[in-house]
Amino acid sequence: MPYFEIIGGKKLNGEIEVKGAKNAALKAVAVALLSREKWTITNFPFIEDTNRILEMVEDLGVKVVRGDNQVEIQAKSIKKNSLDKNLTKKLRASIILAGPMLARTGKVEMYHPGGCVIGKRPIDMFLDGFQKMGAKFSRRGDEFILSAGKLSGANIFFPKISVTGTETMMMAAVLARGETILENAAMEPEIPTLADFLNKCGAKISGAGTPTIRIKGVKNIGGGKLELIPDRIETGTFAILGALAGGKIKIKKCNPDHIRSLLIKMEKAGVKFEERENELIVWGAKKMKAVDISTHEYPGFATDLQPPFTLLMTQAKGTSLIHDSIFDGRLMFTDALNLMGANIIMNDPHRVTVNGPAKLHGRKIASPDLRAGITLVLAGLIAEGKTRIENIYQIDRGYEKIEERLQKLGADIKRINSKS
Ligand code: EPZ
Repeated sequence: MPYFEIIGGKKLNGEIEVKGAKNAALKAVAVALLSREKWTITNFPFIEDTNRILEMVEDLGVKVVRGDNQVEIQAKSIKKNSLDKNLTKKLRASIILAGPMLARTGKVEMYHPGGCVIGKRPIDMFLDGFQKMGAKFSRRGDEFILSAGKLSGANIFFPKISVTGTETMMMAAVLARGETILENAAMEPEIPTLADFLNKCGAKISGAGTPTIRIKGVKNIGGGKLELIPDRIETGTFAILGALAGGKIKIKKCNPDHIRSLLIKMEKAGVKFEERENELIVWGAKKMKAVDISTHEYPGFATDLQPPFTLLMTQAKGTSLIHDSIFDGRLMFTDALNLMGANIIMNDPHRVTVNGPAKLHGRKIASPDLRAGITLVLAGLIAEGKTRIENIYQIDRGYEKIEERLQKLGADIKRINSKS
């Protein structure tokens, strides 16, 4: 199995470009199923998660043309209603295909989506929402079937704020009969961006980016060209890398506004950075102060940036309380950091206490999920000696050609394609 081999301690300098947002790309591919016309999605990241969802829609008979940094999708017809089991198991986000499939064809058969190990990934809110819109739900072994004639608009209140729940119901409502109101909706920047583009294609969506979204169903929507926003999780991760291992790193093609809550915490910790239009310059932090964080839905502190920030706090002076309020499995990776020399105490599945600064030393570790995986790469880059990171499929799920981009900053990281 391939692994990364890292020799830590190099000071990093130079420029790194942020790719298009993974969590915008996945939904753009799904929503293209709503239209018979061609969608061109630019600034498209070719990573394992997007490769899987492209394979899933091709399996449905949808035409996909991969280009340089872009993809063309045209769902002239959808030849079947069942989502490929193996692909579904690899991608938690495959649930988002259920919305457009139901809206376009009236039926979807799929297995419970797999994906991350960061915590139980229920889909109760999706199933409740679809049934409110008139879909019938049944089970066949561990496969579930949703079928509806034409979906009808409904009032859907999310008991918990769900990003993909909001997006999937918004997509399903675009072609439904009548009006749908989503309440307690997520406000991540990928959502209003998607809604704005859907409106350009003929949808009638208002309120995206606020807790209440209204969608008036239309007969059909056209195609067009959608440029994906920069990946805010890559942006934040590279900002933390700059503080940990800079010299000076310039992060290009990003939107600093999308990581405001992180930047406020980094400033409090004493990290020096400079914002520009679509760039962020971060200098290596000589001395940092410990800072507490609690993750929260957007615009609060992103749970996807908790793992790299926890690593950052291992290098800060003092004690930090890290609270991941959203997932109950997203702090397990701290065991690996402790094996590297960190001093982190697990208080409960949602809270750890970090005591710093702690010198890290390299060792062999495995990447549990994509955000913990990239954090272990960053840990290897600052640790003394050699680090070997296995299960790097998890990292390739979210970070395109990551070792090549880090090498350009002066990092000593190699992808070893071992047969064992
Ligand atoms: C999205 O996941 C992102 N994934 C996640 O990024 C991100 O961590 C998460 O939002 C929170 O920001 C994509 O956009 C593809 P949720 P999502 O539904 O939508 C509970 C990454 O690393 N819930 O917002 O699947 C759930 O248990 C990934 O790129 C239910 O209870 O997360 C959790 O506690 C990881 N029932 C909370 O909602 C449901 O039916 C938030 O989950 C659905 C969710």
